[in-house]
Amino acid sequence: MAVMEILKYPDQRLRIIAKKIENITDDIKKIATSMIETMYHAKGIGLAATQVGIPIRLFVIDVDQLEENPKPIIFINPEILLQEGREKHDEGCLSIPGYTAPVERASKVIVRYINLEGEIQELVAEGLLARAIQHENDHLDGKLFIDRLSTIRRELIIKRLKKQMEKSL
Ligand code: NI
Repeated sequence: MAVMEILKYPDQRLRIIAKKIENITDDIKKIATSMIETMYHAKGIGLAATQVGIPIRLFVIDVDQLEENPKPIIFINPEILLQEGREKHDEGCLSIPGYTAPVERASKVIVRYINLEGEIQELVAEGLLARAIQHENDHLDGKLFIDRLSTIRRELIIKRLKKQMEKSL
């Protein structure tokens, strides 16, 4: 187990469309465990494998962040079966640190996925969990939350990010 490096925008690896997982091998289990550790270390509520440079369809989420008894959910080959309602809320991303913006998403989703034991699961999610599932699922398709903003807002964030990067050179 180890904390992994999280890729930051504009790393082009964030744009890769992740591949389906065929077998839940020991390597996959190790990656999932390290991703959970990385997510908690970075104080995030979700992390997709794409963000740690492994383009496979896997993400982890914990919207509750209970320190005593954490209950992360591991989603393998997730498929969003249903999206219902619309809701706008501030969103951020560990790959775009320091920026949040309101993103419109479905307020309720039904997601089918495989857990670490290889069992098919179906989950009905609302609120923050529904939002996190959609955000992380986007990562698996090479999409970032800034792609879902209005052009003006997106360009403003990109401009600020560029300035910040120039400063840190
Ligand atoms: Ni993200």
